[in-house]
Amino acid sequence: MARTHLIGLLLGTEEDWSGAFEALLARIAPSVEHGGERHEFRSERVTIEPFDLRSTPRHSLVIDRLAHWYYVPREWLKKIALMDGVYLMNNPFTFQSMEKHSAYCAMMRLGLKVPETWLVPYKQPPADERFAYTAERYNQPFDLAEVAGRIGYPLFMKPFDGGAWVGVSQVRDARELSERYDDSGQRLMHLQRAVDGFDVFARSLSIGAETMVMRFEPDRPLHDRYEVDHDFLDAATGREVVTIGRTVNAFFRWEFNSCETLIKDGEVHPIDYANACPDVSLISLHYYFPWAMSALLRWTIYCVVTGRKPRLDTDTAEYFAIADDPSLSYEQKLACYRRLADDYFEVDRYEEFCARHLGHIDKMVADWVGSEEFRSLLRETVRSMYPPHEHERFLGHFTGLIDAWLRDHG
Ligand SMILES: Nc1ncnc2c1ncn2[C@@H]1O[C@H](COP(=O)(O)OP(=O)(O)OP(=O)(O)O)[C@@H](O)[C@H]1O
Ligand SMILES: [Mg+2]
Repeated sequence: MARTHLIGLLLGTEEDWSGAFEALLARIAPSVEHGGERHEFRSERVTIEPFDLRSTPRHSLVIDRLAHWYYVPREWLKKIALMDGVYLMNNPFTFQSMEKHSAYCAMMRLGLKVPETWLVPYKQPPADERFAYTAERYNQPFDLAEVAGRIGYPLFMKPFDGGAWVGVSQVRDARELSERYDDSGQRLMHLQRAVDGFDVFARSLSIGAETMVMRFEPDRPLHDRYEVDHDFLDAATGREVVTIGRTVNAFFRWEFNSCETLIKDGEVHPIDYANACPDVSLISLHYYFPWAMSALLRWTIYCVVTGRKPRLDTDTAEYFAIADDPSLSYEQKLACYRRLADDYFEVDRYEEFCARHLGHIDKMVADWVGSEEFRSLLRETVRSMYPPHEHERFLGHFTGLIDAWLRDHG
């Protein structure tokens, strides 16, 4: 008798990676013998409807790309995490604290090199009748320029909980500071010292126990931000970037998250580590897309087959004990965090499992990427994302990148 695990996909507008994941799961049709049972897998898109809090979901695992802005599924995820033990790649409770702010606080507490960061009160007060009285009694007048002077220019003003560059601006002097603060309105802002003239921007995408560190060019258009470059960090810095990403992920119980790091003079500065449920679309990841799909397959299969338990609790104390140990250097602390994080992600057990049961996935993904089915997905994606006069150009662009991946991995 086979046991079928249902993997739910909670989606917004995207069709590309979700179509790829579904096609691969159906094509590979992995069947894994483990613990005396045969395991099979099926995926299904989750629909939104009223739900009884006591109902039992059919899913073993749900991959979410929707709940960060749509609260009906967000509350459903909390219910199935808390009541039904459904495996979620990101803990929905700490996920709700995924403003940048919490991640900055955690990383500073762990001794990481987050640039100097301040939180400043709203420019426009929250619309609440209690505000005037409270503010009059308790809000201290402050001099924004004086705060900025302490941080130093250039700095970034950005929402404490932001994403997608919304409301992010670079500030070079007191005049810009005051203008940008006026613009911020009712958004709560951080002021953060700029890592000025950094050497390289590394963005690391983690899917469970796997992490891909990619060179990133934030100022370019979406299709051109990830650069195909395999040697842009020396081995030690690469390891440090992976360790910081994995540490933050393990700390918050996030398993599908994208982290941003600026590297200057060999020092690694984390600037944005709370992008759980990140964009994994074909047109932004291009060359790295087949890796992301393979990792998503491997990790989801590993979790449901081994019965890995999603963790809703956190064990911050273990991390803080390392952070607070004065005998440890920065490097030694990182090594200790890495051990905790690798334990949390069961890295050794995962690698063994993949070698034993999923060794064929890479070849199957490569076959699929070389197939007409994939080409047609690419054509459809380009058609839906770009105006007609750009179709040919972008199809050529992405085909070239995918062919490069096939040459390197086929
Ligand atoms: N301290 C900093 N030093 C240098 N550059 C910074 C700093 N903070 C932000 N930036 C630049 O601003 C961009 C956007 O900032 P940030 O990532 O914090 O905002 P975001 O809204 O999360 O954007 P995204 O969705 O692209 O990640 C970064 O990609 C980086 O280029
Ligand atoms: Mg960012």
